[in-house]
Amino acid sequence: MKYLLHSVAFLLFLPVFSKAQESNYTKAKELVSKMSFDEKIDLVVGMGMKMGAMEMPGGAPNVGQTMDKVPGAAGTTFAIPKLGLPTTVVADGPAGLRIEPKRANDANTYYATAWPVGTLLASTWDVKLVEQVGKAMGNEVKEYGVDVLLGPGMNIMRNPLGARNFEYYSEDPLVTGKIAAAMVNGIQWNGVGTSVKHFAVNNQETNRMTVDAIVSERALREIYLRGFELVVKEAKPWTVMSSYNLLNGTYTSQSYDLLTTVLRKEWGFKGMVMTDWFGGKDAVAQMKAGNDLLMPGTPAQRKAITDAINNKTLDVKVLDENATRIVAYILSTPAFKNYAFSNKPDLKQHAVVAREAAANGMVLLQNNAATLPLANAKNIAAFGNTSYDFISGGTGSGDVNEEYTVSLVEGLQNAGYTVNADLKSIYSAYLYDYKAKHPKKSFLEEFVNPTPIASELLLEKAVINSKAATSDLAIITIGRNAGEGKDRVVVNDFNLTDAEQKLIDEVSTAFHAKGKKVVVIINAGGVIEVASWRTKVDAVLLAWQPGLEAGNAVADVLSGKVNPSGKLAVTFPVKYEDEITAKNFPGKEFKEKAVTGFMGQKEIPAEVTHEEGVYVGYRYYNTFNVKPAYEFGYGLSYTNFEYKNLKLSGSSFKGKLVVTVDVTNAGTVAGKEVVQLYVTAPTGKLDKPAEELKAFGKTELLQPGQSQTLQFVIEAKQLASFHTAATAWIAEAGTYTVKVGASSLAIKQTASFTVAKEILVEKCNKVLAPAVTINELKK
Ligand code: BGC
Repeated sequence: MKYLLHSVAFLLFLPVFSKAQESNYTKAKELVSKMSFDEKIDLVVGMGMKMGAMEMPGGAPNVGQTMDKVPGAAGTTFAIPKLGLPTTVVADGPAGLRIEPKRANDANTYYATAWPVGTLLASTWDVKLVEQVGKAMGNEVKEYGVDVLLGPGMNIMRNPLGARNFEYYSEDPLVTGKIAAAMVNGIQWNGVGTSVKHFAVNNQETNRMTVDAIVSERALREIYLRGFELVVKEAKPWTVMSSYNLLNGTYTSQSYDLLTTVLRKEWGFKGMVMTDWFGGKDAVAQMKAGNDLLMPGTPAQRKAITDAINNKTLDVKVLDENATRIVAYILSTPAFKNYAFSNKPDLKQHAVVAREAAANGMVLLQNNAATLPLANAKNIAAFGNTSYDFISGGTGSGDVNEEYTVSLVEGLQNAGYTVNADLKSIYSAYLYDYKAKHPKKSFLEEFVNPTPIASELLLEKAVINSKAATSDLAIITIGRNAGEGKDRVVVNDFNLTDAEQKLIDEVSTAFHAKGKKVVVIINAGGVIEVASWRTKVDAVLLAWQPGLEAGNAVADVLSGKVNPSGKLAVTFPVKYEDEITAKNFPGKEFKEKAVTGFMGQKEIPAEVTHEEGVYVGYRYYNTFNVKPAYEFGYGLSYTNFEYKNLKLSGSSFKGKLVVTVDVTNAGTVAGKEVVQLYVTAPTGKLDKPAEELKAFGKTELLQPGQSQTLQFVIEAKQLASFHTAATAWIAEAGTYTVKVGASSLAIKQTASFTVAKEILVEKCNKVLAPAVTINELKK
């Protein structure tokens, strides 16, 4: 009921907001007409960034106004006092509000909630829950005096090694777009803004400021832009953040085709576009492209724009338009409305929401002989460093300064389990020592030179054997962390380290010899290799990086208090080499052309050609019959579900198709099921994936024996592919198969319908085409 009310409130809210956007624009235009030239430049170039001892690229900001309204926020815009326009504050994102938790000469603290990371939220497949998270996250944004949260992150997880995959949602654009829309709706419900990022094709960190992503028009439209299109149309984010990379030869922040033709003209985006921090090279081209705000803003950019206006290479009308869109944004902000923020969001209540979301997005990967939920195990031996130092979220700008993270062992203890004290002291001493040797660095130092996580502690076999004798069950946590700036690698990261393999081997052998079970918890923001070791253990729970309530949420699932209902929104391959993108990740480097660039780092021109085309993730695995370790959409429950009565509203498509299916809880405990609707399109003019996700839903908590009818509405655009030759979305004529299932491989019910005549759904502009021919993968 509370969800229902929330959705209704939200429906009422949306149209009002878009009207407000329009009237703000008119008012903004008038205000800009009263501005001096310098004031307009002030607006389009942010106030800069404090970088400690480091020199700010583009020159040190020389500002007469304060940048310190909210310490730790990523950026601020200039105030124009004579027109009553205040400074506005933007802060990261996306796993929670990233601000400094402590301030000089101030006894108060400013901690924010570390929410479960994007990957986990997407694994809930629960748009209502994600919207609740967004509402609470947005409340912290507002109550800490921030105007825009720099998130959600919604790039496609093209390859498992992408360092920022934890900030993103999925390998699939529909899941990405729907979850992002729920998040944006939730956050903006508070009257604060979001910045959906990074627009677009920022799927890797290697050479992120120089890499040219070479992508076909079709893959762009269907895979990389589609999620952004959905979020723009369904949630109206206040702002969009362009990405660092080039796309088919042009920096995205300098691409008129991307930021104006596609984003604004085709999709109807009415908000403001900002750069990623220090993104792009040419401030004037950015203005012309419709990249309104340059962040964090440098003196060099001010100069470039001023010179271009003076020498008439930039029309002042362009600048006026950029400035107008920024003013329109400012007029919506809490800062402009003089909102008296409390600096006291209800963190306790938010922790409750974070815990619920976390438990609902964990994915039960394996559960042999009903190992879980833990029935009679009371004494638990917890192995693995990460059991004692659980990872709440990833690193870089997607990190959050939370007050605490509940470790796995704390969570187990809170739930009434006894955790082996001897192991606890061995691991705690080891980690204490490691931390003492690796003192916490500043954010920027950490960014440039990240601290590696402690290598897995090697225990004596005798210690393991003694725990097998005295404990009821073993839990081993495998932890991974990654983030902005540096992609992951295969050895000792995607693959387990030798020490981790040894730990799994030895613990399993010792515990199994005593007839006791072994559970592995994966505490990672992205995908790891599982096929080589999973047969040695009884159960595997993918906890992702679950935010500050981590251990409590894991214990909720292990104990059965929460029946796991998360499913993978990303494929787990058997081995990294199975991944089709592996041969084009992270692409080619042109080392001979390297220059010293951003923050003294080497800038190597690079390119990454998307030879896999639309065959990203399960679109590849399913079409080319490559068996993954765990497929897209997979996840177990403590109960099981039956699918019945798949019905279509008709046998031929007439503008839309309504699909219903009954799902029944056929087991003995209550649970929720994620229901996925895939479509196989007829063979026609284009090569098409074996199946594509077209809709999904999640049941309510169904009691044993209880059923629910889920309804999905399919419109022509969902059936269409992007036909490059016609520059249009076209649904071809023929027979389509609807496949409803529990995963992309566990299809439970099928039905078919026909499209009598080809449907031209939408004609687009011929833009963003690659300059070279891509040798794209075909069936
Ligand atoms: C990241 C963005 C972030 C910005 C501000 C950049 O390095 O790529 O995601 O919002 O910094 O912190």
